[in-house]
Amino acid sequence: MYGRFIVIEGLDGAGVSTQSKLLSKYLTSKGLKTYLTKEPTTSIIGALSKSVLSRELDLSARALQLLFCADRANHLEKEVEPKLSKGINVICDRYIFSTLAYGIGSDINYKWLRGINLSFRMPDLGIVVDIPPSVSLSRTSGESAGLQLFDQREKLQKVRQAYLNMSKEFHLKVVDGTKSPEEVGKRIEKIVDRLLEK
Ligand SMILES: Nc1ncnc2c1ncn2[C@@H]1O[C@H](COP(=O)(O)OP(=O)(O)O)[C@@H](O)[C@H]1O
Ligand SMILES: [Mg+2]
Repeated sequence: MYGRFIVIEGLDGAGVSTQSKLLSKYLTSKGLKTYLTKEPTTSIIGALSKSVLSRELDLSARALQLLFCADRANHLEKEVEPKLSKGINVICDRYIFSTLAYGIGSDINYKWLRGINLSFRMPDLGIVVDIPPSVSLSRTSGESAGLQLFDQREKLQKVRQAYLNMSKEFHLKVVDGTKSPEEVGKRIEKIVDRLLEK
């Protein structure tokens, strides 16, 4: 039997990485084979895209999106799919929905971005950890450098709304990320338990 492909998404600071780790521990404690991974990956392509994000490298917005896609294609083929086919559950810390939500917050052509990203494997379960912009800003100390606070809030609001809209279109489960990490984790465990019963 195939493993399940579970992705966790949300605004920066929502607790996506925290919850991915907690879920991995939970599934492992239930005796299920689990593999925790994240995007951008640690591959050479992932490293390149991270250096664009940290402004070490200057690349056009579309070239950056193609790098994310190249990283994703490689990640799926070399890591995710081989694990799933061995019956190992894969938890991915950020996937296509983060790309699309943050893409909406930038001035990239959305139709183009959506087209190239929706060609990738859909997860068996997608979870959005939802927080308002104010919580994102307070937990990340305003990492998206260069923007004024007002613009940052406005951008984060657009990105949050994009996640919420996608949750309807792609049947993603939304959990309230303003609760404690343990409470958010319990909520996610319930959702994942239901998936595993199917
Ligand atoms: N539910 C939560 N309540 C309060 N703080 C949290 C919560 N989840 C995560 N944090 C804290 O917020 C920061 C960002 O968490 P992280 O999991 O790295 O978020 P993300 O991966 O979504 O950017 C960390 O300092 C983390 O300890
Ligand atoms: Mg993270």
